[in-house]
Amino acid sequence: MSLIVGNWKMHKSLKEVKDYCKKINKCKLPMVLCPPFVYLHIMKELLNDNFELAGQDSSAHSNGPYTGEVSAEMLKEYCDYVIIGHSERRHHFNEKGPDLNKKIQRAQKAGLKVILCVGESLNQRVQNKTTNYIERQIRESLLNCSSNDIIIAYEPIWAIGTGRTPSLEEIEFIHQYIKAFTKESYGKEFKVIYGGSVDEKDVKAILSNKHVDGVLVGHASLDPNEFIEIAKISDKVKKK
Ligand code: PGA
Repeated sequence: MSLIVGNWKMHKSLKEVKDYCKKINKCKLPMVLCPPFVYLHIMKELLNDNFELAGQDSSAHSNGPYTGEVSAEMLKEYCDYVIIGHSERRHHFNEKGPDLNKKIQRAQKAGLKVILCVGESLNQRVQNKTTNYIERQIRESLLNCSSNDIIIAYEPIWAIGTGRTPSLEEIEFIHQYIKAFTKESYGKEFKVIYGGSVDEKDVKAILSNKHVDGVLVGHASLDPNEFIEIAKISDKVKKK
């Protein structure tokens, strides 16, 4: 069974959220949705049991004077997962390996499954630095963390929101590489999911690769019909 995750980023009004839930509830396939924090409560109430929720980020602190932050413990009331280290957070909010490491430790203490995003820039890709960079991202982020319930989302930065995706061979190579690396470094193969311009047209080919354990979908998850289509296609691809 593939993991299908929809990352809404900073989109949707309350009215749109209610409409979305009504439409997507017709689908009985398992999916994970990551709305902005303020919608978690209502979505938990509105969505049927097939859905799980995820935070788009969580704090490195458990509570205290950290204006604007939301802790992993708070998220755990609504969520099973949290995304940590999305490239937009790394880029716009200057989040670095040690920051992500603290967030992951805190999220694990709270009992959340962590979706750790990694991925290279176009520059790094051109210079053939992709695998080194990804290894470093994983190592820094997971220092002294448990290897339980970590999912790696491979999201090449240049593919996010651009309509461009790596070739299927490249996707296979990187997923296989991350699995071999995690097996060697942490004693087990982590699940690895792909993100970056996934839509209903390319999801079948991507998920048909046996090394790809799911997809992290941004833009295409904003339309409930398109996201349902992605879940249906994934269901047909039938992973073990
Ligand atoms: P995209 O976003 O599908 O819109 O490229 C993916 C992501 O940022 O997680």
